[in-house]
Amino acid sequence: MSGIRGNRCTLVIRRIILWVLLTNIILVMYCLKSPTPVKTSTSQEDTCPAKLLKRNMTMPTRSTKSQSAECSPTVNIMFMKTHKTASSTILNILFRFGEKHKLKFAFPDGRNDFFYPSPFLCSQVKDYRPGDCFNIVCNHMRFDHQEVAKLLPPDAAYITILRDPVELFESSFHYYHRAVPLTWGINGENKLAEFLNRPQTFYSPNAFNSFYLKNLLFFDFGFDNNLEADDPRVMRNIHNLSKHFHLVLIAEYFEESLILLKETFCWTMEDIMYFKFNARKSSSVSRLTPELRAKALQWNGADWRLYQHFNATFWARVDAFGRERMKQEVKELRRRNAEMKAICIEDGCAVEAQKIQDRHFLPWQPVGESSILGYNMKKNIDPKFMTLCKKMLTPEIQYLSDLGVSLWLTKLWGWLKDSVLTV
Ligand SMILES: *[C@@H]1O[C@H](CO)[C@@H](O)[C@H](O)[C@H]1NC(C)=O
Ligand SMILES: *[C@@H]1O[C@H](CO)[C@@H](O)[C@H](O)[C@H]1NC(C)=O
Ligand SMILES: *[C@@H]1O[C@H](CO)[C@@H](O)[C@H](O)[C@H]1NC(C)=O
Repeated sequence: MSGIRGNRCTLVIRRIILWVLLTNIILVMYCLKSPTPVKTSTSQEDTCPAKLLKRNMTMPTRSTKSQSAECSPTVNIMFMKTHKTASSTILNILFRFGEKHKLKFAFPDGRNDFFYPSPFLCSQVKDYRPGDCFNIVCNHMRFDHQEVAKLLPPDAAYITILRDPVELFESSFHYYHRAVPLTWGINGENKLAEFLNRPQTFYSPNAFNSFYLKNLLFFDFGFDNNLEADDPRVMRNIHNLSKHFHLVLIAEYFEESLILLKETFCWTMEDIMYFKFNARKSSSVSRLTPELRAKALQWNGADWRLYQHFNATFWARVDAFGRERMKQEVKELRRRNAEMKAICIEDGCAVEAQKIQDRHFLPWQPVGESSILGYNMKKNIDPKFMTLCKKMLTPEIQYLSDLGVSLWLTKLWGWLKDSVLTV
């Protein structure tokens, strides 16, 4: 009896020692691998020269009913991947498009983001040499326009996606709170409510990882996430941003967003077909009362302004496109998605992580739980759809591996998270 308890104890102690050791090793490696943060000013020779990327590959031009002139598909793309905004689903679309057209991605090295939350530097790109040009930049980063611009031809299209800041805050809190030491001291069943009722008690702008809990969108775009909503710099930042981005998608209107993307990029319906990634099981989603919602909005006031600004420009774009036409196109997209679902997905819906048979399709989980849903691929798929199904169902991390990105840091962290922290 006591022998068993003794064994358990040593097991726990061993795990703790292992955990501390490995965390330290990882921290040291992060520091060593971090590129020297010297920001060289933009000069002619370290910028992607326009002429180098003149595409030699013939891209099919296509004419759409709406566009009288023929257009050729956009291939030079900066996708600013924001957190908790359905951006992983867009990433899958970009990966597939890039693979299909043999485009060159600027990938990070050893992990799936560009040293987030450090500001982006082009030296963080794998094997980067000044003057290198890429077609697509799409991994998580803290945005810096000047740095990103060095990697891409001048005609590159900048896109991003936003989500209602309240939903985003709820999601971010759920996903990251165990990684933010500030929240460890919050008692009670509903930590989110406790936090929103007295945010100043639990929050400090300089605490480790605290940006996950306030104006995360503002932070991702490289701005100060602690600005108050009525600070004039907030609107100035937003206007600066709108100068750089050609299209800002809205997660709440995801299908409409993809139709606008297709239109703007001159892509096909097939290019934007998708299965939704990283949905959470509904039992893990906190429903906020109207009072808490109001508090969350106020707490994330800068993000709220950002969201409202781009929600308005989004709907102006939809109006220009035509609301009726939009309805038809969304209907068609839904039809195509449903068709693919019937072809590719076992039982036609997402399932809990424990029920996913093939690890290749297992999505990344937050620390300490498995609340993110994934898919099982059907067993007997028509061979002509096999590859497409597989690609559409592959989550971000596995897809990055398939594309040849080394992810040893991410994988080491994942292993730690699953084997040591989730006891
Ligand atoms: C581009 O394609 C043409 C015709 O296929 C070929 O003759 C030419 O060498 C190619 N140029 C480059 C830079 O690959
Ligand atoms: C906006 O952009 C301009 C020029 O690019 C810059 O001078 C200014 O500081 C920016 N403002 C903010 C608030 O970032
Ligand atoms: C976004 O815009 C739509 C259309 O104008 C509007 O119905 C909706 O309430 C807006 N959402 C927010 C959060 O402002």
